[in-house]
Amino acid sequence: MEKNLEEIFQAKIDREEKIEPKDWMPDAYRKTLVRQISQHAHSEIIGMLPEGNWITRAPTLRRKVALMAKVQDEAGHGLYLYSAAETLGVDRVELFEQLNSGKAKYSSIFNYPTLSWADIGSVGWLVDGAAIMNQVPLCRCSYGPYARAMVRVCKEESFHQRQGFEILLNLSKGSQAQKDMLQESVNRWWWPAMMMFGPADGDSPNTQQSMKWKIKRFTNDDLRQKFVDVAYEQAKVLNVTLPDPDIKWNEERGHYDYGVINWDEFWNVVKGNGPCNKERLAARNKAWDEGQWVREAALAHAEKRANRKSKKVA
Ligand code: 3HC
Repeated sequence: MEKNLEEIFQAKIDREEKIEPKDWMPDAYRKTLVRQISQHAHSEIIGMLPEGNWITRAPTLRRKVALMAKVQDEAGHGLYLYSAAETLGVDRVELFEQLNSGKAKYSSIFNYPTLSWADIGSVGWLVDGAAIMNQVPLCRCSYGPYARAMVRVCKEESFHQRQGFEILLNLSKGSQAQKDMLQESVNRWWWPAMMMFGPADGDSPNTQQSMKWKIKRFTNDDLRQKFVDVAYEQAKVLNVTLPDPDIKWNEERGHYDYGVINWDEFWNVVKGNGPCNKERLAARNKAWDEGQWVREAALAHAEKRANRKSKKVA
């Protein structure tokens, strides 16, 4: 019976039909979606921390307003994604407990510090640039709620990437000190951004199945390659050198070859030993504890409204 259900399920996916919350789905499909969507949601709200770090120090009111809008957008992306995860039967509080306890993964990139204003530009250009590469295909993910959440996220991500690129373009036309700040920032953010796409395809335990289920439309290395090909051309406009001496055009492949990624660093950060992992979790736990009264007030208000409604009906 189950075998037949799986065949019907896969045929639906092969016909490019969306899987909706009430549809039958293999437990493993549900499980890997909860895994990926919750990690994605966690990444969005943790991503607010390195960006938010510069709101009070933005060089102009215009930059401050753009950065505030971006950080608020990330919170909204987290909201959509936790809601998408909840359609699979998980409880948001449980997801937060997994994050706050350090059990849950989130994108390695957010465990690096934002040390200069140029970093806010690099985060926009490289991190949101990489996020767009990886998130646009997710708009065609086989799971309906996830694909639909991604449509709005991607629209806002393109604003994030453009505001970051503009910050760097301004610096690239500034004083020597600003040009040096730009280059120093890109030197720090390039390789962690390359790691965002996940391990090489041969080391990814999830990619093959996720491709078959059309959760993923491209592999990690496919998307990483797209990112390198685009970023290399954009770096020329910024007059900045990418910190990879092995990047060079490969006519035969029709792509830029690039150097070897330091996977020891990647897995070390994923395991919790990155520059800011502890700081990020401490900030999340502090926010969770300080937000307890808001959750209680919201629940009390909802209960009061429900009681009032049931009295009216009675
Ligand atoms: N950071 C932390 N862990 C990572 C990772 C990364 N950059 N890349 C991979 N991993 C983990 C995976 O979660 C997996 O661990 P698990 O099995 O315990 O969950 C393991 O490493 C093996 O990786 P796989 O490639 O097999 O895992 P996936 O098939 O899930 O692919 C992914 C990883 C490409 C990140 C995929 O999960 C994905 O596309 N996620 C949705 C998009 C996303 O999360 N983007 C990044 C953050 S959001 C962002 O940057 C928005 C910005 O605006 C703030």
